[in-house]
Amino acid sequence: MNKNLNAAISSFNNTASTLQASFESLKKRVEELNKELEFKNMEIERMKSLEEQADRNSRLTAMGEMAVKIAHEIRNPLGSIELFTSLLQREITNDNHKNLLGHISSGIKNLNHVISNLLTFTKQPNPIFKKFDVHKFIDDLLQFSKFSLNNNNIRLEKEYSPSLPSGWGDEELLKQVFLNLILNAVQSMPKGGVLKVKTGLGEKLKDNTPFIEMKIIDTGDGIAEDNLKKIFNPFFTTRESGTGLGLAIVHNIIELHKGIIEVESEIGKGTTFTVLLPVKQRHEHE
Ligand SMILES: Nc1ncnc2c1ncn2[C@@H]1O[C@H](COP(=O)(O)OP(=O)(O)OP(=O)(O)O)[C@@H](O)[C@H]1O
Ligand SMILES: [Mg+2]
Repeated sequence: MNKNLNAAISSFNNTASTLQASFESLKKRVEELNKELEFKNMEIERMKSLEEQADRNSRLTAMGEMAVKIAHEIRNPLGSIELFTSLLQREITNDNHKNLLGHISSGIKNLNHVISNLLTFTKQPNPIFKKFDVHKFIDDLLQFSKFSLNNNNIRLEKEYSPSLPSGWGDEELLKQVFLNLILNAVQSMPKGGVLKVKTGLGEKLKDNTPFIEMKIIDTGDGIAEDNLKKIFNPFFTTRESGTGLGLAIVHNIIELHKGIIEVESEIGKGTTFTVLLPVKQRHEHE
């Protein structure tokens, strides 16, 4: 009897520990399945957000295309307004009226700036590289900006290197670079100041290629250190009416020229943008 009972107990114990082991392994399996489920849920979430992102992207693309169409539509009448304003400016002798027309003309220039930036940013530029006279190029641009410099009490200083070789690049695109840099400098000096343009020749860009150095120096409000890393990002702006595309475009164009752009700034003192453009080597084909 006792023997039988012992055998029954030990068989019961055996069964219990087998059951315990299968229970443990089942528990483990459930845990694994739960983890898998969690992972799958995360995947689903990720897919959902990817789908949403794709949806947002296609809406943004459509909006971008519409913006480009609108920009083109605005550009033509704006050109006529600009032309008629400059004709009127020549006709009118009254100083007050002349001044009002000056404001209209600088408003048109700002609109033109926004539209040109938008169009340049959305299309892939196809640069046509040519030799050009750097100082003549800068002087033409400064002539274009003269009204806005005078109007904002900004004195112009030039420090041109006497022995500068010709530049090599797409003048139309480089024009956008320097117009953006000059406009930013002007906007940073609402109470007036000094805009200095300096040129020089350097010798060690990457593989010892000589480069032309062009500096746009202002005595404006400066850029906070935290913002310095962001200023070349598209749409980064601290200005109420800014698009934040100016420096993003500048950066793209300088990269197309295999150049470098650097910035130094101090709050309350001013900002220096330095553009380094490689000088074309003689053995290259024109
Ligand atoms: N010379 C400067 N002095 C002070 N801040 C500057 C200067 N240049 C650029 N910044 C800062 O960098 C930001 C980005 O400049 P960016 O030219 O890309 O855009 P934006 O001038 O704000 O707008 P947009 O050029 O499209 O009219 C500016 O909003 C400003 O905060
Ligand atoms: Mg700008």
